[in-house]
Amino acid sequence: MLAIIGGSGVGQLFDLPDRRRRIIRTPYGDPSAPIVVASVAGQKTLFLARHGSGHVLPPHRINYRANIYALKEAGATAIVALASVGGIAPDAVPGVIAVPHQILDYTHGREATFFDGADRVVRHVDFTEPYDASLRRRLLDAAATVGEAVLDRGVYAATQGPRLETAAEIIRLRQDGATLVGMTGMPEAVLARELELPYAHLCFVVNWAAGLGDSASAIDLAAIDRTIVGCVERVRRVILALAGEST
Ligand code: HPA
Repeated sequence: MLAIIGGSGVGQLFDLPDRRRRIIRTPYGDPSAPIVVASVAGQKTLFLARHGSGHVLPPHRINYRANIYALKEAGATAIVALASVGGIAPDAVPGVIAVPHQILDYTHGREATFFDGADRVVRHVDFTEPYDASLRRRLLDAAATVGEAVLDRGVYAATQGPRLETAAEIIRLRQDGATLVGMTGMPEAVLARELELPYAHLCFVVNWAAGLGDSASAIDLAAIDRTIVGCVERVRRVILALAGEST
C-alpha cells in the first residue's frame, strides 16, 4: 500500500470523501498526526501530515521514528515523501518538481535510528543509494504519463532548520554537491530504509536558496507560499497517476 507523507502546504492535497483516521501509537511515541486511509484512483492509500494537523511541528521536533513506524504498522509498502525545497542548482528553478537521487545530511540532534542499541545488537544499513530505485522510476513514469516535467536526479541537502540558511552556507552546500535544500528529508529517508520500506522524495522547489537568484539579499517568504500553491495541483496529478497504476 502506497503511503504519502505530506509536507508544507500539501495537507489538503486530495478531497478524500471516504477517508478514515487511524490513531497509531508506537514504541517511539506518537506520530505527527493520525494516519488517513483513503482511496486514491481506486487504490487504498495512506497519508500522514509530517508537520501535524494544522502544521504545528517544526522540522526538528517531528517524531520521524514514530511516523515511519506507524506507516509500516498501518500496512505501508512504499513511501512517497512530498517536500518543499530551496533550489541551489541552476535548473532547480522555483516551480520545478524534482525526484532527487542522493542525500547530504546536515541535521543534528534528531533521533535518527531504530537501531539505537536497546536490543544490544549493533546494526548498520546500506545507504549508498538512499532512495529506492524502482519507486523513483515509478514516480518519474507517473509524472511522464500526466505530462509533468520533473527533474530526474538531484542531491537533497537536509539542514536542521527551522531557520533558513545563510548565503555562505548555501555556497558550502553547493560546493558539497547539493542541488536542493530542505529540512525534513533526514532522518526520514534512513528510517524508512531501516524498516525496509522503499522511499522516494517528490520535491517541489519553492524558492531560490539563500543568496541565489531573487533570494540574493533575502528570501521572500510570502512568495514561497504562492509558489507552493502553484505546485500543489501538479504534485496531485503525479500522485494520482502513481496511485492509479496497478501495484
Ligand atoms: N532551505 C531549507 N528548506 C527549505 C527551503 C530552503 O531554502 N525552502 C523550502 N524548504
